[in-house]
Amino acid sequence: MRLDPRFEGSATLQSLGRMLTFIDPPDHTRLRKLVSRAFTPMVIDRLRIYIRDLVGSLLDPLEETGTGDLVSDFADHIPVTVICELLGVPHEDHARCYEWSEAISLTVEYVVPDEALNAADEATSAYEAYFRGLIAERRSALGDDLLSGLIAANDNTDRLTEDELVSMAVLLLGAGFETTRNLIGSGLLAMLRNPAELAQLRDDPSLIRGAVEEFLRYEPPVQTAVARFALRDVEVDGVLVPEGTIVGAVIAAANRDPARFLRPRPGRHRSARQPPRSPSPPASTTASAPQWPGWKARSPSIPPSGASPGWPSSMTIRRCATPAPSGRTLAAHSACA
Ligand code: HEM
Repeated sequence: MRLDPRFEGSATLQSLGRMLTFIDPPDHTRLRKLVSRAFTPMVIDRLRIYIRDLVGSLLDPLEETGTGDLVSDFADHIPVTVICELLGVPHEDHARCYEWSEAISLTVEYVVPDEALNAADEATSAYEAYFRGLIAERRSALGDDLLSGLIAANDNTDRLTEDELVSMAVLLLGAGFETTRNLIGSGLLAMLRNPAELAQLRDDPSLIRGAVEEFLRYEPPVQTAVARFALRDVEVDGVLVPEGTIVGAVIAAANRDPARFLRPRPGRHRSARQPPRSPSPPASTTASAPQWPGWKARSPSIPPSGASPGWPSSMTIRRCATPAPSGRTLAAHSACA
């Protein structure tokens, strides 16, 4: 990133350069240690009811009208809303966080055009100013949200600086956004294309945890890991990676490695007694075996319209996208047919 000649003038590249995903130990170790004090499973667990109600409120209009777009009317709204809630961002600010996250997400590519970077720079500056304000507010009255937890996190001698707090908030909103919305979109698509397996899931919600692991393997939202840059000659599995080489590990290929997986199809949950071991990260923070009485009634039952949405070209993110505006008449649950 620092090799990009635009680095000095770009708020986005500089902000990315401070983020957990782009730094090495010992800085990475230090940040992870502080963050894991605040970002605990309990913090996420507290959101369970909020998420259930949010999902219900997004499904209501789809059910009432019998038509809609599962990406733009449903999947799109979940990640930013939930992460904002997690961080303690006031509801009236969720929409702008969505816009800023969307602008920044387009820069998570191996090649970023000037136009996309300029839009992301504006969003990054606005995001950072916003979080500086929110951090100041929280410092004067800590709450039970994650931002307050991050402000308070310390190991007696060390705590996150204001810049680190801002980067962490923006990272969480960015890292959970494209990943989760695309997992929801492509997972639903896989199910719609495999009605027998969908029927099994509707009948036995306990299969969901394994199914989400399988969606991650079958259609991983993150196709290629964050690019690595060899600081010295290094040998990986007998292959020399010379100093200075940029390495992109292709998670999507590893997830379909024929030496490891029988067939790249959804539905391994059916026979798999254990979730398939996937190089994608475990979905335990995103998946929840539904303890949701309405699950069966509300799981997708309307057939897809047959429209063919696109998979916009990207080396990093598998984006499940709605087709051109004329495709707005898609039947419910058909967003990625
Ligand atoms: C389907 C959902 C998700 C997928 C597929 C996914 C995928 C990934 C991958 C592949 C990485 C490693 C990137 C690399 O080093 O090359 C990563 C890192 C990370 N993700 Fe996610 N992610 C998901 C959801 C989330 C959510 C919801 C959050 C936060 C709210 C999040 C926060 C992070 C953070 C902070 C890192 C950096 C960890 C570190 O470097 O120590 N992710 N994610």
